[in-house]
Amino acid sequence: MSNRRIVLASRPSGAPTLENFRLEDVPVPTATSDGEFVVKVEYLSVDPYMRGRMSDSRKSYAPPQPLNEVMTGGAVGQVIESRNGKFATGDIVQGQFGWQEYALSTGAGVVKVDPSLAPISTSLGILGMPGLTAYFGLLDVCDPKPGDTVLVSGAAGAVGSYVGQIAKIKGCHVIGIAGTDDKVEHLKHDLKFDEAYNYRTVTNHIEKIRELAPEGIDVYFDNVGGVITDAAILNLRLHARVAICGQISQYNNEKPEMGPRLLSMLIVTRSKIQGLLVTDYAPRFGEGIRQMAQWLKEGKLTYREQFEDGIENAPKAFLNMLKGGNTGKQLVKL
Ligand SMILES: NC(=O)c1ccc[n+]([C@@H]2O[C@H](COP(=O)([O-])OP(=O)(O)OC[C@H]3O[C@@H](n4cnc5c(N)ncnc54)[C@H](OP(=O)(O)O)[C@@H]3O)[C@@H](O)[C@H]2O)c1
Repeated sequence: MSNRRIVLASRPSGAPTLENFRLEDVPVPTATSDGEFVVKVEYLSVDPYMRGRMSDSRKSYAPPQPLNEVMTGGAVGQVIESRNGKFATGDIVQGQFGWQEYALSTGAGVVKVDPSLAPISTSLGILGMPGLTAYFGLLDVCDPKPGDTVLVSGAAGAVGSYVGQIAKIKGCHVIGIAGTDDKVEHLKHDLKFDEAYNYRTVTNHIEKIRELAPEGIDVYFDNVGGVITDAAILNLRLHARVAICGQISQYNNEKPEMGPRLLSMLIVTRSKIQGLLVTDYAPRFGEGIRQMAQWLKEGKLTYREQFEDGIENAPKAFLNMLKGGNTGKQLVKL
């Protein structure tokens, strides 16, 4: 048996390409020491943060991805061999197993997945890291109140689509921004957003947001940064809250983009802006998963997943997601 895996072959300059990755064939690992176990991966996640780790010249909360090593990444699969008392053969587990078909683990950062809650792929989406980002980012950082107007960018992706739905559960008026007309349709009809628009067909975001939220916005959940965020800040209402979750429009920039200086708007509106990192909430992940699973069961939340097949297509899935080819959570099925 062989273990096929994807390693980082070179660092991108600007947008990453397929040439930055290499498919390798190595032997399947075995658990030779006490505490180790082997996981056969079933689904792996491709996420925007991986773009940041492909570069080594940026200050970050995490070290860069080393060259010629298996791409980092969350994955879920089944334990097929174990010398660890906490993880038995047959258990479904989720952890940073990387872009490979089989992973050797010691259990660090690994959690057991309850397959009775939902399909196990959701442990990488709505019941996993992106779901927890939406849950804690919106509820903890933005403190949404019934009747608040909540604006979400990157709204049809994983995090954004959960944020908008949680805001609806909390009685907010929700406006989403996404990159195609089909995504806008999905937000309004399937996810019950009150309003949505396609940012690729709009040149004046300040006016567009003002048209959809004439009284201004109370909460802005930012997944994208750039001109959309500039426009959102100019539409803040008194005592607004802004969560900076992601800045995907900037991830391929070699030099930081200089934008307009809008900070005086924070004085005018006495608003708060806060960056968020989901892993800070690790001690409360159990609470987040329980609540998200409950809302799923009650039909208050819904989700979409998009699959690419085979480890060899993980780079393609990743590049596709960065360009907006996904609606909902982008995964790779092995
Ligand atoms: N802080 C944290 O702890 C944390 C945790 C998870 C994720 N995040 C951040 O949250 C954001 C969403 O992550 P996700 O995993 O849910 O990914 P995702 O939204 O499922 O996929 C990325 C989406 O970004 C959009 N996009 C790409 N380029 C863009 C551009 N130039 N301008 C505007 N939108 C663009 C694309 O949709 P369109 O078709 O709409 O362009 C694409 O579908 C990312 O910024 C990510 O870095 C942060």
